[in-house]
Amino acid sequence: MADIKNTAKTFKLNTGDQIPAIGLGTWQSKPGEVGKAVEAALRAGYRHIDTAFGYGNEKEVGQGIRASGVPREEIWLTTKLDNPWHKRVAEGIDSSLKNLGTSYVDLYLVHWPCSTNPDDNSKAYSDWDFVDTWREMQKLVGTGKVKNIGVSNFGIKNLERLLNDPSCKIVPAVNQIELHPSNPSPKLVAYNKSKGIHSSGYSPLGSSDSPLNTNETILSIAKEKGRAPAQVLLLWGVQKGWSVLPKSVTESRIKANWQLDGWSLSDEDVAKIDAIEDRFKVCGDSWLPIKVFFGDDE
Ligand SMILES: NC(=O)c1ccc[n+]([C@@H]2O[C@H](COP(=O)([O-])OP(=O)(O)OC[C@H]3O[C@@H](n4cnc5c(N)ncnc54)[C@H](OP(=O)(O)O)[C@@H]3O)[C@@H](O)[C@H]2O)c1
Repeated sequence: MADIKNTAKTFKLNTGDQIPAIGLGTWQSKPGEVGKAVEAALRAGYRHIDTAFGYGNEKEVGQGIRASGVPREEIWLTTKLDNPWHKRVAEGIDSSLKNLGTSYVDLYLVHWPCSTNPDDNSKAYSDWDFVDTWREMQKLVGTGKVKNIGVSNFGIKNLERLLNDPSCKIVPAVNQIELHPSNPSPKLVAYNKSKGIHSSGYSPLGSSDSPLNTNETILSIAKEKGRAPAQVLLLWGVQKGWSVLPKSVTESRIKANWQLDGWSLSDEDVAKIDAIEDRFKVCGDSWLPIKVFFGDDE
């Protein structure tokens, strides 16, 4: 038990690169907080940071990375192409790199399978969709600006469309999707795996004001293990085989979420969490101009 090093765990991608199993999330991490959170995480041992152009905090994330003193090459840095940039992928990555103050990212994701018109975000382009976007994303490979490319919020239907299109020459390395016990998406996780796509789990704690904080199954396993509910949720994800991206701007929680070494969940614990029936989704598609989820991931 004592030698279990979950924090050192990585998952091998279809490119051969290894993505660290635990990364710091930064969505909704406010200005003035996010830089300190990134710095605290890297000092605590994290080597994986997840951000996005759309979070509006790339600049401060970059500052936090530099303030930590951890060499850039030791850090896995993910950012994402925002919806209004789908027709401007080359510009999109350049903007993110400039914000972050780095010459490359380890992973560049299409944030949503939805292009929106920059002049009116309530409208999707009718002459451009994510297959066109992916064609442009593929051109970034080999430029030195991105080490891996992937997608996010892609369900099976959209992945099928992408993978079956003749222009798709590179299988996404990662599909970053919402994964927690109340949105476990077993079909989508299995589909990703069958195509050699790594699933990365966002909102692993169930996001802000999570109902999972009071879930009886999680609380009882946490009590029995002498651990916090958040730690149980993170280890469940890692043991299920996906990377997890807990967000926090609270130093004590950032540190607590890293205390995953030297213990594990039993198969029975994992099965009990798998059996949680309550369902909720943090990120639906109601705010998007088109539907992107089709219920094909359950
Ligand atoms: N690709 C996408 O479309 C997408 C969508 C959503 C999220 N994401 C990524 O995934 C990351 C994580 O998802 P998320 O931000 O939705 O939520 P999350 O990580 O599931 O939960 C974050 C919430 O949990 C709290 N928290 C953190 N550690 C805790 C602990 N040990 N005990 C109790 N509460 C704790 C945080 O509070 P404090 O910060 O106040 O400590 C915050 O309110 C995001 O930040 C982002 O990087 C990606």
